[in-house]
Amino acid sequence: MNHRRQPRAGSFVGFNIGGGFSAAAAVSLLKVQGIRHVRLSDADHRLLSALAGTGVEVIVGVQNDEVLRIGQSPAAAAEWVKTNVATFAPATNITFIAVGDEVLTSIPNAADVLVAAVEHLHSALVAADLNLQVKVSTPHSMAVIPRPSVMVELLQFLQKTGSFFMLNAQPYHGYIEGGGIFPLDYALFKPLLPSKQIVDPNTLSSYGNMFDAMIDAAFFSMEALNFSGVPVLVTETGWPWRGGAAAPDATIGNALLYNGNLHRHVLAGAGTPARPNATVGAYIYELFAEPAAEEESWGLFFRTGRRCTPSTWELRVRFLRTRRSWPACSASPTPAPPPAS
Ligand SMILES: *[C@@H]1O[C@H](CO)[C@@H](O)[C@H](O)[C@H]1NC(C)=O
Ligand SMILES: *[C@@H]1O[C@H](CO)[C@@H](O)[C@H](O)[C@H]1NC(C)=O
Ligand SMILES: *[C@@H]1O[C@H](CO)[C@@H](O)[C@H](O)[C@H]1NC(C)=O
Repeated sequence: MNHRRQPRAGSFVGFNIGGGFSAAAAVSLLKVQGIRHVRLSDADHRLLSALAGTGVEVIVGVQNDEVLRIGQSPAAAAEWVKTNVATFAPATNITFIAVGDEVLTSIPNAADVLVAAVEHLHSALVAADLNLQVKVSTPHSMAVIPRPSVMVELLQFLQKTGSFFMLNAQPYHGYIEGGGIFPLDYALFKPLLPSKQIVDPNTLSSYGNMFDAMIDAAFFSMEALNFSGVPVLVTETGWPWRGGAAAPDATIGNALLYNGNLHRHVLAGAGTPARPNATVGAYIYELFAEPAAEEESWGLFFRTGRRCTPSTWELRVRFLRTRRSWPACSASPTPAPPPAS
């Protein structure tokens, strides 16, 4: 008899994929590791083509510097959907367009057009008859949202279109910004004595890990604006394994603990203290490490040399399926990674 708990439907762990890696290698890696959900930082056409027929669910990204143009022009939105979604769907299973990244907090001057941008993209999907399979949303940081009026309009949009609230929930940042308030174990999902658990002053729910507290904070802030029933999708979460001298907690050991514990926690499907029935999908940031990056790195897989050979780091990522043979990156030379930005 199998006593292992089945993951709750709707609970999954996916990965963020940045640029600079061979599309064929990326898709082989997804297959070998059994990864069924990815979020692309952009709408890389080689990757979107390579993902055709794999069934992998894909979030495509509108870059922050495209948001203004799309928000100002329905025609630009229609063109974006045609080039980056309609060309590839349904063979490539695109399920979301993520509009920008943390637009309200990182490029506040685009806040005025953010709602128009999501609406223009949604209308373009309706016109292309793709709105049932592809939803539109925009990822938020944990920072206090500076413009509640924009958030209300966004939530109305999400509710009306059956979309999700996208949240970048990074306990690493919460732990660092807390400056000692939070124990490291709380950020890493390590068991805490009941007396050490963090009690939310608003709800008196007690939290054994910061990830759940961040998701509930998103639910509470939506509730404060009178929205309930909009699900949360965690578009970024992870832990850097390298961060330089000023980041002593960015270690391989902590990255392994965080990502492994996150994986178990999400797939157990226990919901959060405030929403025990919520299913959570979470995208780990990120699948590939930039080989050239000297400073902070969050990526789980490297490639070294001409083949996509795993580093010792990759072999230690125990929560993923172990691989038997490592696929060649591609027959042709892979392009050099872009300079770290
Ligand atoms: C695409 O993803 C959706 C959502 O999970 C799923 O229902 C559907 O079966 C997938 N399509 C293909 C072709 O795999
Ligand atoms: C939420 O709804 C309540 C009851 O209808 C109302 O009193 C309150 O002003 C609303 N709050 C917001 C932020 O709209
Ligand atoms: C959770 O789901 C169960 C079973 O469907 C239901 O009885 C319960 O009321 C739900 N709880 C909440 C807080 O929604």
